Amino acid sequence: MIAKSDIQILYSEQELALRVKELASQISTDYKDSKDLILIGVLKGAFVFLSDLMREISVDCQIEFIRLSSYEQGTTSSGKVKSMDLTLPDLTGKDVIIVEDIIDSGRTAKFLVDFFKTQNARTIKLATLFDKPSRRIDELKEIKADYTCFEIEDKFILGYGLDFEQKHRDLPYVGYIE
Ligand code: IMP
Ligand code: MG
Repeated sequence: MIAKSDIQILYSEQELALRVKELASQISTDYKDSKDLILIGVLKGAFVFLSDLMREISVDCQIEFIRLSSYEQGTTSSGKVKSMDLTLPDLTGKDVIIVEDIIDSGRTAKFLVDFFKTQNARTIKLATLFDKPSRRIDELKEIKADYTCFEIEDKFILGYGLDFEQKHRDLPYVGYIE
């Protein structure tokens, strides 16, 4: 259990909103001619980011979700990606943006990119709210998102959709525990 008073703020609600808006504006420019943009959020962590991002994107877009989890305990991931629901409509010809909460070891991102390559989309890009490049495992050093809101140091963060043992996703800011 973590008490709210032990959480240090890393990004405030206002800082998050500003950066999400900037990213949405970049995406709106890049996809201005797209007829079939679809944002695919990775549950559960990315749902808050996706909901703010989609409302700031000025291009018409659809949304879908997939659900993955990496067997985790506390703040350490076992390294295995478990797919819990990959049910999606036909993505043939669509411009897909995968929306993730955070890239850490890079295993989930690799799994996602490999999976979406089999789905006949016209284009596939990866957007992430956070990236911890220093945590990338050696074999996945090349994994990088096309759109990143914030690169952060090796800290375990929570809030704004991200959890610690399934809690604290509701915090409007992103924080860490010392
Ligand atoms: P991966 O190691 O890159 O596969 O990271 C997979 C997942 O671990 C992310 O999508 C998050 O759900 C979770 N994760 C990694 N770092 C953090 C963190 O600092 N806070 C909360 N969840 C995290
Ligand atoms: Mg995640």
